Amino acid sequence: MIVCVCNNVSEKKIHQAVAMGVSTMAELREQLDVGTCCGKCAGCARKIMRQCMDEQ
Ligand code: FES
Repeated sequence: MIVCVCNNVSEKKIHQAVAMGVSTMAELREQLDVGTCCGKCAGCARKIMRQCMDEQ
C-alpha cells in the first residue's frame, strides 16, 4: 500500500526503514521524504511506524 502518494512511499518502505533503525518521524522524513509535500500522509505514516516498532 502506498502511504505517501506525493513521494511514492509504500508501507513496505516504512517497515524497511524501521528495520534499519529509524524510530522518529524526523528520521523517517529524512530517509524517505515521507510527509514533505502536502503532509496528508504524516498521521498514517506515524501510525505505521509505531506499529512496526511494536512488532519488533
Ligand atoms: Fe505524503 Fe503528500 S502524501 S506528503
